[in-house]
Amino acid sequence: MDKFVIRGGNPLIGTIRVSGAKNSALPCMAAAILTEDEVTLENIPQVRDIETERRLLASMGAEVELGYGRAQHRTTISCRTLSDPEAKYEIVKTMRASSLVLGPLVARAGMARVAMPGGCAIGGRPIDLHIKGLEKMGATITQEHGYLEARASRLKGAHLVFDKITVTGTEDLLMAAVLAEGETLMENCAREPEVTDLAALLVAMGARIDGAGTSTMRIQGVTSLHGARYRINPDRIEAGTFLVAGAITRGDLIVANCNPSHLSAIIAKLEEAGARIDILSSDSVRVRADGALKAADISTEEYPGFPTDMQAQYMALATQAEGVSMVKENIFENRFMHVQELVRMGANIKVDGRSATVRGSARLSAAAVMCSDLRASASLVLAALVADGESILDRVYHMDRGYERIEEKLRGVGAQIRRMGNVFASRQDPVEAD
Ligand code: EPZ
Repeated sequence: MDKFVIRGGNPLIGTIRVSGAKNSALPCMAAAILTEDEVTLENIPQVRDIETERRLLASMGAEVELGYGRAQHRTTISCRTLSDPEAKYEIVKTMRASSLVLGPLVARAGMARVAMPGGCAIGGRPIDLHIKGLEKMGATITQEHGYLEARASRLKGAHLVFDKITVTGTEDLLMAAVLAEGETLMENCAREPEVTDLAALLVAMGARIDGAGTSTMRIQGVTSLHGARYRINPDRIEAGTFLVAGAITRGDLIVANCNPSHLSAIIAKLEEAGARIDILSSDSVRVRADGALKAADISTEEYPGFPTDMQAQYMALATQAEGVSMVKENIFENRFMHVQELVRMGANIKVDGRSATVRGSARLSAAAVMCSDLRASASLVLAALVADGESILDRVYHMDRGYERIEEKLRGVGAQIRRMGNVFASRQDPVEAD
């Protein structure tokens, strides 16, 4: 199991580059199922979840090339033949986003067998809304032996209203609707930029979609889609994580290759907390925090609100701010796994249900800590960057799922961080998804 060794105390200074969005790349790779032609995606992040998605598609009979040359992080996928339209449990248990193949498989092949994802570190993570939408579109769905089996000769357009806003639920059903017969009206959709990214790819493939990025989408089904080449947007959560890193270390950091228009809630909150943020161009943002940080409350909301995927990272910052910050987690029922580890480093945090009270100005001391899920890991890295001494972070494979070479990127702007154990390519699979 790889570990990170981090010695705190260095301000981060310089330019750090953001990779492509993992949570855009995953649905866009699944969208290749919808056509016999080749789909090429650029700006793919070199992270474990992408490798998992490659294995998943290949296990179904797709041909997937995945290259990370200096000039290109690119994948080309051909689903000309889908010999085995099944997402096996061995893969699904390591990445719940595998359920994103459900809608496209039913739309393309008329059937799908997908292992139920089960829960994960941050919550129960059901997919009942995915199932409900597919049934409304005419699929018959059975569940046995831990697998979902969905069948439909051809899905029919329907009026879908989501009981709750769900990102992958919106994406899964959008991919089902683009090949359905007739019109689908989807209301209470997720508005995340990753949904908009997927819709842009689907339109490039010949789909007819109105309203992507809003809570109402109208889709006219077509009989087939063709191949396309598409560039994935930058990862807004990686960008937000780096902005917090610049603020918490009192550095002067330029976050490049990002999309500032996706960062409004994060930037507003960091400014409220006393950081100085300058939007330098359409793809770079500068963060400085030479003065004191001030307490500021957060309440996680669906986009464009403050993202749940930034809650753990912000909490690390709040431990250093003057005053008391309230952190409310409204999206997932168990997304405070980082709290106990932060407390072991000297943070003063009390959890009550979905709320946490963070008393700031804590002097953090280095410790051996355990990563539990992707964003909790990021929170521990941020805390270790300002802790007194040398911290050891165990189980960093959680980090490798969604952050590309993060120790190299942070070292490039002055962090004292190194990886112990195998390099990134170590093959042991994570034991739980998130
Ligand atoms: C996506 O997960 C992201 N993953 C998550 O990022 C992110 O935290 C989450 O959206 C919220 O923004 C990917 O895009 C691959 P949801 P998703 O469906 O789609 C409930 C990361 O750190 N719900 O929007 O699985 C659910 O339990 C990961 O990169 C149902 O009840 O999340 C949750 O409470 C972690 N029934 C809420 O909705 C359903 O059928 C939002 O979940 C689906 C969801």
